[in-house]
Amino acid sequence: MCGLIGYNGIGQAAHFIFSGLQKLEYRGYDSAGLATITDGLLQYKKDIGKLEEVESIHHISQLPGHVGIGHVRWAAHGKVDQVNAHPQFDEGHNIAVVHNGIVENARELRCCLENTHSFVSTTDTEVIPFLLAQYYHQKGSLIAAIASAIAELRGPFAFLAMSCYDPGKFFACAREMPLLFVSTPTGYMAASDVNSFPDGCNQVYTLEDGQIAEVTSQGFVFYDSTGSIIEKQPEMLARQASAIYVNSSEYYMMREIREQPRAVEQAIEQSAADMQAAAQAIKEAQNVIFTACGTSRHAALMGRYLFSRISKRMSEVIIGSEFKYFSDAICQDSVVIAISQSGETADVMDGVRTARTKNAKVISLVNHHASQLARLSDIVFPLKCGTENAVAATKSYMAQITVLTLLSHYLAGQQHDILKKLKDIIPLVEIAYETNLKRAESLARYIAKYNACYFIARGSNFHIAMEAALKMKEVSYVHGEGMPAGELKHGTLALIEKGTPIVAICPADYTFDDTLCNIEEAKARGAFIIGVSDKHHRIFDVWCKIPKVDEILYPFVAIVPLQELAYFTALARGVNPDRPRNLAKSITVK
Ligand code: M6R
Repeated sequence: MCGLIGYNGIGQAAHFIFSGLQKLEYRGYDSAGLATITDGLLQYKKDIGKLEEVESIHHISQLPGHVGIGHVRWAAHGKVDQVNAHPQFDEGHNIAVVHNGIVENARELRCCLENTHSFVSTTDTEVIPFLLAQYYHQKGSLIAAIASAIAELRGPFAFLAMSCYDPGKFFACAREMPLLFVSTPTGYMAASDVNSFPDGCNQVYTLEDGQIAEVTSQGFVFYDSTGSIIEKQPEMLARQASAIYVNSSEYYMMREIREQPRAVEQAIEQSAADMQAAAQAIKEAQNVIFTACGTSRHAALMGRYLFSRISKRMSEVIIGSEFKYFSDAICQDSVVIAISQSGETADVMDGVRTARTKNAKVISLVNHHASQLARLSDIVFPLKCGTENAVAATKSYMAQITVLTLLSHYLAGQQHDILKKLKDIIPLVEIAYETNLKRAESLARYIAKYNACYFIARGSNFHIAMEAALKMKEVSYVHGEGMPAGELKHGTLALIEKGTPIVAICPADYTFDDTLCNIEEAKARGAFIIGVSDKHHRIFDVWCKIPKVDEILYPFVAIVPLQELAYFTALARGVNPDRPRNLAKSITVK
């Protein structure tokens, strides 16, 4: 997703910005650009493609000057082309802007401005420099221009602006989107993601509610959304290093799959006081709602199951983007549990903001401590799994289900028993990984030839079918569909033909016999059955063996071979599993 960086200092701005943008590559983007100021003039280069491609053509890291702004763009408004890449400019090319988020009323603003100005791009962003130029000419100050312009913008945003009207500075402004500031040994930086700062920069300022920052070579001056100076205190940020990689020729996704035993080990370490407080709030709540998207939502489905099974507490899972449509039932006695690796997913944030306006209590599970979600939560459980670089979520999911398993047991007053069981599961996750590596690789060659693959399971394993299907489609582009095994005969069975791959997650638990009936139905129509189980059955064409574990802990071991399967299917199809087309790591637009 889009990322932005600004620098002002004694160093070569473009150099610092370029290396910061490289650290944002994992988020996914389709074009890149950079602008600096020298001798009072704006200089810029931008193009479609990866940073190294743009660099090899335009040498963006070599642009001269000590002040600059840079951007990687993931197209949301306007197609992927050079003109739409950022920076965007006002008509006179006196103001440059890089922008994250969506200007929701861009169409209306363009209509008003188009009477007197001509736009060159099809982005929503371009209205920002146009508005800034218009207000600068009226007010004679860039801070005043920003304050007036943002009063017209609808939707969440973060942007950096730079102008030859005030060439020694850059400006920053954000509403409901992350924008962070640090001082470095050579200057002052702003960025949308803490990962892009140089190591050791841990004192971070943040912007909220349309606040504005002026970044000079001497430091920061902060303003509120009306342009009045305000004081801000930095926060200490505990940055987490990613695990050390053993083999650098591997894709991130496989490294992160392998890091999962460690993810469980680290996620177990939660504050007992926070667990107790969260459990108490959940017990007292009138209703308990999980909200999340994608993989995090699948973890939430496991949470819902565990709350019911272990704690006898009914809860609901609402997809982030649908949350607001249920807001009538949210009140101050509701507990909302938001799950997000990035803590920046716009759809989740939207729901959480809705919950906050209703005074609901917000508990979050989040990997990025400096995220908006963490800041808006009453209780935060950090996932502690280190940076997840692959777009596909793997180890963050493992950390999420670990925390949810703990929480459900705190809720039932059984925290002591579960801690031991979770520690015992760590080597078994590793065994699930080792045992299936070769098998997943050869099975992938079979699946790669098909256009679709179906995943079925029941009860506590149902969400694994959903998660495995998401992994498959996301990284290999083989359509994956997961469903409760009992649903197969209510429609999807019509799609089963000779050889159609069906993955049945059927550990030897209380779901085994019932799932087997559904497998028989599929087999009778010619399906190729891949059984994921600790118990063999003659009906399996291929058996992915997983270790025997406590009934509620099968998801910890069952997901591993299926992540491997998705990974190897991507490789078998010649696709880069780390960078699926059209997707980004953190989806900060609605
Ligand atoms: O950062 P989040 O956990 O909020 O992200 C939610 C989804 O966008 C994410 O899980 C997505 O589905 C993954 N790419 C799936 O592998």
